[in-house]
Amino acid sequence: MKAALCTHYGPPEELEVKDVPSPRPGKGQVAITVRACGVNFPDVLLIQDKYQFKPALPFAPGGEIAGIVKEAGEGVTNPKPGDAVIASIGHGGFAEEALADAARCIAMPEGLDFAVASSFFITYGTSWHALRDRAVLKSGETLAVLGAAGGVGLAAVEIGHAIGARVIAGASTAEKVELAKAHGADDGFVYPAGRLSKEQQKALSEDIKRLTGGNGADVLFDPVGGDYAEPALRAMNWGGRYLVIGFAAGEIPRVPLNLTLLKGCSIVGVFWGAAVARDPKKGFADLHEITRWIAEGRLKPHVSARIPLARAGEAIRLLMDRKAQGKVVVVP
Ligand SMILES: NC(=O)c1ccc[n+]([C@@H]2O[C@H](COP(=O)([O-])OP(=O)(O)OC[C@H]3O[C@@H](n4cnc5c(N)ncnc54)[C@H](OP(=O)(O)O)[C@@H]3O)[C@@H](O)[C@H]2O)c1
Repeated sequence: MKAALCTHYGPPEELEVKDVPSPRPGKGQVAITVRACGVNFPDVLLIQDKYQFKPALPFAPGGEIAGIVKEAGEGVTNPKPGDAVIASIGHGGFAEEALADAARCIAMPEGLDFAVASSFFITYGTSWHALRDRAVLKSGETLAVLGAAGGVGLAAVEIGHAIGARVIAGASTAEKVELAKAHGADDGFVYPAGRLSKEQQKALSEDIKRLTGGNGADVLFDPVGGDYAEPALRAMNWGGRYLVIGFAAGEIPRVPLNLTLLKGCSIVGVFWGAAVARDPKKGFADLHEITRWIAEGRLKPHVSARIPLARAGEAIRLLMDRKAQGKVVVVP
C-alpha cells in the first residue's frame, strides 16, 4: 500500500509517497482501508518537529480518518470487516491503510460522504469541549471567534450558533468572514494577516467591542495567538472566558494579567486530546452526539479541498499558508 511519509522533519513538499507493507492489526485494533483523511494544524507542526507529540520517523501524518474496516485484530467484535467507520488515530492517516483502536472508532452514519466524515472529529471535538465544558457558553451570550473560517474556528462558529449564542467571526479576509456567516455567524470583522502594529491591535479590540454593543465578548475562542491575543483579551466582557485553543500565528502570546483583574475574566486552557484521554467515555459520548448532530444536518462541516494522496503535501501547505477554509481532506 502507499503512504505519504515524513522521513525527515521539514516542509510538506518533502513528504515522500512510498510503497510500504500493509499494517496488521494487533489486539484491540482494526486495519482500515482509508477513504479520506482530515488534515489538522497539528499535522503542520508534526512534520516540522514542532508538536508536543513526536512519532518515530518515518511516519505518515493524518490524525482522523474515514474508511472501511479491512481486518479486525484479536478480541475485536465491533467494528467488523466491511463496516464504514470514522476513527481518531493520532497519525498514520495519509495512507491507503491505517490502524485504529477499535474503541476509538465510531460507525459512520448512512449517507455521510467519506470526506466529510473524516473532517470533524478533531475540530468539532475540540470546539465542543471548549465551548460546552470549558467556557460553559450559554444561549444569549456573545461568542467571538478568531480564525473563524479555519478548522476549529468554523466548528466553534457552528456550535456556538447551535447553542444559541450571538456569534462574531474574525478572520483575515472578507471571503473567510462570509464563509463564517454562511455557517451561523451573526456578524464579523476582518483583521490583517501577519504581524500587527499597535494601531492594528487597537482596531481589532475596537471591532470586537463595536460588534458586541460596547460590552466585549462573553466568550473569546482563540486558535491564533501571536499578536492577536492581547487585543482580543482587551475586548472581553466582565466575567468573560478567554479560551486558549492554539497558536496558529506561530508565537505563544504573553499577556498582562492585570487585564483579567480589570475585567473579572478568566483565561481558560483547552486541550481536547488530553481531556479525552482522561475521560474517554465522555469524549466518545460527545463524538457520538456531534456525529448525530451532523447526520441530522444541525452541524455542517465544510470541506473546501480534496487532495489526492500523491499530492498530500499540498494539503498541509494550504493550512500553513493560511489558505484553508473549513477543512482540507486527503483522499487516497
Ligand atoms: N487545544 C486543542 O485541543 C486543539 C485541538 C485542535 C487544534 N488546536 C490548535 O488550533 C489551531 C488551529 O487548528 P486548525 O486545525 O483549525 O487549523 P487551520 O484550519 O489551519 O486554522 C487556523 C486559522 O488560524 C489563522 N492563522 C493566523 N495566523 C496563521 C498562520 N501564520 N498560519 C496559519 N494560520 C494562521 C487562520 O485564520 P485567519 O487567516 O483568518 O487568521 C487559520 O484559518 C492550531 O494552533 C492547532 O494546533 C488545538
